[in-house]
Amino acid sequence: MTAFSYQQEQLHAENVSLTELADTYGTPLYVYSQSAIEQQFDAYKQGLGDHQGLICYAVKANSNLAVLNCLAKRGAGFDIVSLGELERVIAAGGQADRIVFSGVAKQANEMRRALELGIHCFNVESDAELDRLNDVAKEMGVQAPVSFRVNPDVDAKTHPYISTGLRENKFGIDIRSVKDTYQRAAKMSNINVVGMDCHIGSQLLEAKPFEDAIERLLTLTDELNELGITLKHIDMGGGIGVKYSEDDIEPDVTGYIKKLVDHLKSRNLGLILEPGRSIVANAGVLLSRVEYLKDNGEHHFAIIDAGMNDLIRPALYQAWMDIKPVQPHTNGKEALWDIVGPICETGDFLGKQRKMSLKAGDLIAVMSAGAYSFVMASNYNTRGRPAEILVKDNKATLVRKREQLADLWALESLGE
Ligand code: LLP
Repeated sequence: MTAFSYQQEQLHAENVSLTELADTYGTPLYVYSQSAIEQQFDAYKQGLGDHQGLICYAVKANSNLAVLNCLAKRGAGFDIVSLGELERVIAAGGQADRIVFSGVAKQANEMRRALELGIHCFNVESDAELDRLNDVAKEMGVQAPVSFRVNPDVDAKTHPYISTGLRENKFGIDIRSVKDTYQRAAKMSNINVVGMDCHIGSQLLEAKPFEDAIERLLTLTDELNELGITLKHIDMGGGIGVKYSEDDIEPDVTGYIKKLVDHLKSRNLGLILEPGRSIVANAGVLLSRVEYLKDNGEHHFAIIDAGMNDLIRPALYQAWMDIKPVQPHTNGKEALWDIVGPICETGDFLGKQRKMSLKAGDLIAVMSAGAYSFVMASNYNTRGRPAEILVKDNKATLVRKREQLADLWALESLGE
């Protein structure tokens, strides 16, 4: 199944025409393919095979309830980083005992709720957080299942903003001191030490950094064994990248996971993974309409109705995302277009120097926009966030309504 393909010279999501969706629901519009999401999740499941473990989808990548629901139905666990994500997963039908809770700044009320629901594990990132968790669990008279996020100091060779496994990053506990933390935790009355985790970065296109990291973690688990601390699982985080452009390699998800499972063969350790982007990125597009064409002799601007508030990745990370015409055979003007939005910022572009034929009124699709796209959208310039559609075969469902203007100031008042 190809999530997005041209049929009768029109770009389709599965078997639904994007032109029809734009006409019915307006633009900008996010459209996701359910089959593509399911297929990617299944690739992880296949990699895991019958090795014990859990695929915990990283909710931050795309947290629409319908997306979470379709993954929950397929047996997914979830990686969350806030109370909001926890409640979303529950609202979407996810199982609490399949949730791992990551993040550097967990608050006591977030811990309390997660303990009340009985989550699978807390990925603890500091000694101070461990103390707080032990206190909260004691108050509630329960044991908190804990894994420590180790910062393995490996270079994920990705964009500096999404690289997390180096000593200079704020994440995790230094690999040189984490053994002390484990020993302290093992003595705590309300902590149950069950695992070790890491997350070295995002959009990784090679397996090598994951393999380096797992080897470092396994050396540590062996040392802990000698100290009488036996773990049940290793969590390798998320981070497998996706093909955004022709220059990127398409990572073989199943193959990468099989490699990690191989490293665990001689040990009695389950494998948890926290994939986000690789499950949803290529299952989504942002549909937008060209408002105006503008030419200053040197630059050709296609001004569209979607901006950096709808999709911030190009502005924030200089991310390159493919842009395709929805109907490629219009009699538009062929040029190298800068595809820019309506926001009053120079950084408001979705792509630069894109060769295509365009005219005002045309629809374009920003590809690979299923991950870190809607979730990072804002109301900057008092713009309502786009609607979201989930497509399965020839059926399209509106899974989030477009924000209306009155929604944008509903929580405000005129003051005194
Ligand atoms: N687990 C942890 C602890 C994480 O911090 C992340 C992502 C994931 C799992 C999921 O990683 P993934 O499989 O999606 O690479 N907004 C950026 C990406 C930020 C990633 C943050 N952490 C972007 O648009 O590229």
